[in-house]
Order: sequence, then C-alpha cells, then structure tokens
Amino acid sequence: MIDVHVHLLPGLDDGCSSIEESIPLARYLASEGVTHAIATVHHMPGIYDVPVAAVHATLAEVRQALSAESIALDVGVANEVMIHQGLAERVKRQELLGLGAEQRYLLVEFSGREIPWFAFTTLEHLTEFGVTPIVAHPERCYPLHRDLMEVRSWYSKGILAQLDLGSLLGLHGGRIRKFAEFMVRNHLIHLLGSDLHGPPARGDMWTRAYRRIVRLGGEEYARAVSEELPRAVWDGGDIARLVPTPRQSKAFSLFSMARSILGYTARE
Ligand SMILES: [Fe+2]
Repeated sequence: MIDVHVHLLPGLDDGCSSIEESIPLARYLASEGVTHAIATVHHMPGIYDVPVAAVHATLAEVRQALSAESIALDVGVANEVMIHQGLAERVKRQELLGLGAEQRYLLVEFSGREIPWFAFTTLEHLTEFGVTPIVAHPERCYPLHRDLMEVRSWYSKGILAQLDLGSLLGLHGGRIRKFAEFMVRNHLIHLLGSDLHGPPARGDMWTRAYRRIVRLGGEEYARAVSEELPRAVWDGGDIARLVPTPRQSKAFSLFSMARSILGYTARE
C-alpha cells in the first residue's frame, strides 16, 4: 500500500517535530504493509514556505535514519499546497514540489469552511499545462458536501481526490465520516493518505480503513486506490486507464438532488 499524504519529515511544518517522531511513524506505516510514503510538507503562503532544497535535505536525513533502523519504507516528498492565487505560476517556476518521479501531480488543499472563488479555475489551469491536481481530503471540506456535481465533474476534468483514512474512521466527526463513505461508495476517491502528523495512538489505522473501503467500494476498487493508482503516481506514469469510473447509482442521483434542494444538514 502507498500513503500519499503523511507529515513524516521533522521540523518543517506542524508534522513530526523531530526524527525521534519520524522513526516510530515510519515503523508504524511499514508494520501495516505500507511500502511507499510520500512525505508531504505544508505550503501555506505567509505560514509555511519551506525552500525546496531544505525539504530535500531533510528527506536525505530521514532516509538515512530509516536505513540505519532497517525500516523498509521508501520515502518520497511533495508539498501539500493550500489553494491560493498565483499557485499555477509558482508551479510553472518549479517553486513547489509535485508528487512522483516526474512531479506531474500536485496535492492541493482547501480550507474546511470555504472555497475561494478562484479555486476550481486554478485547478483547471494546472491541468492545462500538464499537472494533475489531487484535492487533499475533500471530505473534510464542508462546502463540497453541498456541491456534488462539482465533485463528480472532477472525473471528466482529470482532477483526482485523496481521502484521509481518519475521516472514514470517524476521527473528524460523523458528518465527515458519512461524506467519506459516500465518496468511497461512489468511487469518487482515487488515492489514500494517513495524513498523520506523528506516531498514531493506535496501530491499525490502515487495516481498519482498508477493510471499510473493501466493504463500501469493493475489493478491486480498494486495490486500485491503495496500490495501483498511487504506484503510477509514484512512478510518474500515466494513470488515465486506472482511474475508476464514478458509480452512477440511483442513490447518488436522489442524494444529489436532495442535497441541491435542501442543502446539507447535520442529520445527514
Ligand atoms: Fe496534511
């Protein structure tokens, strides 16, 4: 399995504070069968703006420490970029780190409460010059709960979605868990991330989340989002043939219609 979103690098953002936290986190991931992890580093203008060279230097330290500890986890790096104006230009200038060998993928997050007016045009702008946006944990973004047509349109626009495992396990509350389940059931999620910022309190997050994904989306789908798709991203390959088609269930249509008319309520 491949974790495409984990704050494993120490001392660069609000993730692991030291290598003493990175090592048990990496050991935990390996113990659950995670073979590759993309260590994501926040990029938020004015808050986190770590130079690319510093990220690479820290990655080298972590790789060395994992090798010394005989932890079998292959680690790569990328930014988790807060959506902002000028993002596409920064990508063009290679000031942000994309995912995978060719950096053809960019992990972009929205705040939980609002989506800026330029968000979707910025994502589409990225696709125009060959970068595939991956929306980080869309299930945690409340405005998207009311905008299912937008989420569904990502499939045809070539935009990917990454689920936080904790969302499916209820770590962010019932409302987010339900939307996470809905997205998995309808095959609207493409990649998985633990989004851990340090060693976890429990050692079975991946196992429990994987079981739920199998139950909600089927075994083939679980394998695609945990292994096949992220491996293609890791290799910098072409993922088009691997992206599952969203399910067009009757429940989806009724659910979409109800949400459009009534909006999202806490009872859902
Ligand atoms: Fe994150």
